[in-house]
Amino acid sequence: MEELTITPADVKKQKPAPEVLGFGKYFTDHMFLMDYTRGRGWHDPRIVPYGPIALDPSAVVFHYAQEVFEGMKAYRTVSGEIRLFRPMDNFRRLNDSCDRLCIPRLREADLVEYLKELIRVEADWVPAREGTSLYIRPFIIATEAALGVHASATYLLSIILSPVGSYYPEGINPVKIYVEDQDVRAVRGGTGYVKCGGNYAASLRAGERAEASGYTQVLWLDGVHRRYVEEVGSMNVLFKIDGRIITPALTGSVLPGITRRSCLDLLRDWGYTVEERALAAEELFQAAEEGKLEEAWGSGTAAVISPIGEMQWGERHAVINRGKIGDLTQKLYDTLTGIQWGREPDPYGWTVRV
Ligand code: COI
Repeated sequence: MEELTITPADVKKQKPAPEVLGFGKYFTDHMFLMDYTRGRGWHDPRIVPYGPIALDPSAVVFHYAQEVFEGMKAYRTVSGEIRLFRPMDNFRRLNDSCDRLCIPRLREADLVEYLKELIRVEADWVPAREGTSLYIRPFIIATEAALGVHASATYLLSIILSPVGSYYPEGINPVKIYVEDQDVRAVRGGTGYVKCGGNYAASLRAGERAEASGYTQVLWLDGVHRRYVEEVGSMNVLFKIDGRIITPALTGSVLPGITRRSCLDLLRDWGYTVEERALAAEELFQAAEEGKLEEAWGSGTAAVISPIGEMQWGERHAVINRGKIGDLTQKLYDTLTGIQWGREPDPYGWTVRV
């Protein structure tokens, strides 16, 4: 593992009050950078003052979107220490994203160590108030100055940090979701299963339309049949129907969420029948109409566990659990955040001390 250099920031920013944090609005004093050069590999890991990145206007990322990212969090536990949640899983997924976008892979264990060092430098930025955390955004961009459509010969990896509260203004209150029937997010063989900026760019139009109609986000349908539910874009979706847990299977167009997997592990251990399979919007709305759709929620690093209170699909409208958070959704939220904030033991070994 190459040694990290640290250049401290001369001026430190004022830290925002915990109640104004929101999501991704404030950034810490330092960032992590590392370069890739073809023939040399990844090199020069460094922590430097947070600031703009200068790139040639012809850099590949600007034109052909060769870019991947991750989202993870560091938590200030009740005893005051700082912990990460399943960081190796995030870096494994980053490498999966790299493979799909022709970006050279990284050593996952090294990245965890670099990240820990960055967080130690920024330890004062990890907020302590309940419901807050330090959001970690690793990303890689293609930096070669070239307009030919090919994989870049050079890359920049950066990790930036942002103290956050809840992702949705609703907090733990249920969100309203619009089932998108025009645009599609992904198809099998595309990039739906990886975290690349292009997926999110393509989702904006539907998201804006939904917001203009009073919905928080859209629920995507599969791109081929336009029948089966996939994910929300900032979170995976899970449903409790007639006592069973149903979530879309990971068939290549859905992001393999780490919070999703953690939910499924917990639910199986609690004795629930979990079905990872194709779930038609028709089946979902029919279950709602028959009173069998008991709970619905989204899972994600940023969104944590977000109850879904209402869904609209064309003319059909479903209100779930009278628009209130369900007992199981609440239990999942309490257990996951309990483990993350150290209020509960971590029998799965998911947390890593910084
Ligand atoms: C996350 O949950 O970390 C995400 O990356 C989702 C979204 C904020 C892009």
